[in-house]
Amino acid sequence: MFESLELLSTDAILGLIAEYKNDTRLEKIDLGVGVYRTMDGKTPVLNVVKKAEQMLVNDQESKVYIGTAGSANFNSEIQKLIFGEIDLNDRMVTIQAPGGSGSLRVAAEMILRASPSSSVWVSEPTWANHMPLLSSAGVSIKPYPYYDFEKHVIKFDEMLDTLRNASASDIVLLHACCHNPTGLDLSKDQWQLLTDIVIERDLIPFVDIAYQGFADGLDEDVYGIRHMTKFVSEMIVSSSCSKNFGLYRDRVGALSILAKDKDSKRIIDSQINNVVRTIYSVPPDHGAAVVSLILNNEKLRNEWILELAEMRERLKSMRIMLYELLLAKAPKYDFSHLVRATGMFCFLGVTEEQVKELKKDFGIYMVNSSRINIAGITPRNVNYLANSIIDVLQ
Ligand code: LMR
Repeated sequence: MFESLELLSTDAILGLIAEYKNDTRLEKIDLGVGVYRTMDGKTPVLNVVKKAEQMLVNDQESKVYIGTAGSANFNSEIQKLIFGEIDLNDRMVTIQAPGGSGSLRVAAEMILRASPSSSVWVSEPTWANHMPLLSSAGVSIKPYPYYDFEKHVIKFDEMLDTLRNASASDIVLLHACCHNPTGLDLSKDQWQLLTDIVIERDLIPFVDIAYQGFADGLDEDVYGIRHMTKFVSEMIVSSSCSKNFGLYRDRVGALSILAKDKDSKRIIDSQINNVVRTIYSVPPDHGAAVVSLILNNEKLRNEWILELAEMRERLKSMRIMLYELLLAKAPKYDFSHLVRATGMFCFLGVTEEQVKELKKDFGIYMVNSSRINIAGITPRNVNYLANSIIDVLQ
């Protein structure tokens, strides 16, 4: 039976992990998959996570199933982290999900059940897995302009013009912060203008938040979500704890749906739990239990906020360091978008050919689009990186 299937190429992002690992050059640099790295190029377990895990080992009494929605405590803490203190109890359903991707998949199933003819509008470009993940679930996708590859700015007017043509009940997928792959986020004014269009056209915002805390801060990074929450009647928010708690492989995420009213909340609640039951039955517990412990304990929570700030500041300083080196070494090229972007990513702005050259000649790995993960840059490798970039440009 299976011989009828075709051989597929490896995933554009995850495939780079193995390629990089197999490269024996000492000077190689991994700017591929979006994971945080320290100055030493490591992705250690956060100290605060280690502490919470120890508490779990000591105190956890059972590994019995926890239910389709996961931990009620985790769900309410995540809701507060994203939506703040706004009282949404009557209208919001939040479930724990297996990572951001798991929550996106459940969201896709909910869209298909509720409104199969709606299209999901995605930014061009968007995270490389958004379209495969949503379309393999059966959702229809349409692109809206987002990034000007020449000028390295957001095409905001074109984005709005496109969304003005969306049909009522269409869904707009947005990145709350640290837009992946461009690193360029909407300003407060732009979130407000976008909210007006969403209301005017009767669209449903679907916000993906995988990097809360990596741009400007935990509250600052959810400005757009909190603003929209005040005005829209329905919204979907898919969130991940992979990056900000460093829990990548433990698969910790959540899906929140804002309902029109209390009655629709009850219906959504029943449907979403049914979707979960029919896909993976119950979410994994360990990572979410760790997040719950941290968010419920003031001391651990403060430690986490500090560790997160350290990651954020390191990314910022590496952006500046690379930019300043490129400016000093090759002032004729404009790399200012490196420091206008936030979070883990931005485009380097070189061609696919040059990306291949960087890999082949210098052992520098990045996604073909020239998306770089800033966390792969360290004070030790930045000079080599800048020299190599200039070499392929000339
Ligand atoms: C990325 O964009 O590199 C990360 O979100 C990892 C992934 O799964 O693609």
